[in-house]
Amino acid sequence: MALPVNYQPRSDLLAGKVILVTGAGDGIGRAASIAFAEHGASVLLLGRTVSKLEQLFDDILAAGLPEPGIIPVDMGKLGIKTLEEIADVIAERYTHLDGILHNAAILGDRIPVEHYDLALWDQVMQVNFNGTVLLTRFLLPLMQQANSASLLFTSSTVGATPRAYWGPYAVSKYALEGFAKLLAEELENTSSIRVNVVNPGATRTNMRHAAYPNEDPESIKPPEDLMGLYVYLMGEDSLNEHGQRFTG
Ligand SMILES: NC(=O)c1ccc[n+]([C@@H]2O[C@H](COP(=O)([O-])OP(=O)(O)OC[C@H]3O[C@@H](n4cnc5c(N)ncnc54)[C@H](OP(=O)(O)O)[C@@H]3O)[C@@H](O)[C@H]2O)c1
Repeated sequence: MALPVNYQPRSDLLAGKVILVTGAGDGIGRAASIAFAEHGASVLLLGRTVSKLEQLFDDILAAGLPEPGIIPVDMGKLGIKTLEEIADVIAERYTHLDGILHNAAILGDRIPVEHYDLALWDQVMQVNFNGTVLLTRFLLPLMQQANSASLLFTSSTVGATPRAYWGPYAVSKYALEGFAKLLAEELENTSSIRVNVVNPGATRTNMRHAAYPNEDPESIKPPEDLMGLYVYLMGEDSLNEHGQRFTG
């Protein structure tokens, strides 16, 4: 699936909405946080490098956009206590959650499975898959409180067709797509939450540069080019999109 042709979101499409973005401090997550705020949302910036989150917080405020919140969390180390605290803080301040963009991920190595470092394998699965599942599990009740919440999982081309040497990155994205499908089916008739997957495709970020160091960054699109699609999927123009996979 792709963004409807000539789609232009209303400038206030996300007004009053509360949207959590994981991995908000850099790359696509940073661009999405700004785009959501530009369309009126209060954005909860979740990430592991506090200085990046603070800079983004300042940039959003300086642009005169709705005040964001900061949730400093390492997705690779999510325990039940932390998860409960995150849910409690959001419930207390905002009462509900209109959207989550699950975006945080790490790349790991691109080497044969038999040589893959086990601790790194575990870490990639923890951040990209287990952490994402856990956060979803603990925040779903807050999404049920919204009129029509949007749950968006970020996959990759290797999440649809795993590729040799991409190890746990490919496996974690493949698993995430399975989890999104399961959840879409589970929530279909019991909830107004819509669940979709986005594959951003080649995008000019640190992760892309780490994966393809010899590529000219200027030859691929910047994260901002994806934002029409991301804003569409978070706003009510996409109310009928459920269980779909979008490509940027
Ligand atoms: N760029 C592409 O071409 C491309 C293609 C397909 C899919 N994707 C997917 O798009 C998403 C965004 O990727 P990107 O290219 O924007 O990558 P990026 O520039 O490396 O940004 C990743 C973000 O995730 C955060 N993060 C990493 N580990 C974390 C952890 N343990 N806890 C909390 N936050 C953590 C990073 O925080 P720090 O800055 O603190 O490290 C960073 O803000 C990922 O899911 C990626 O798999 C990207």
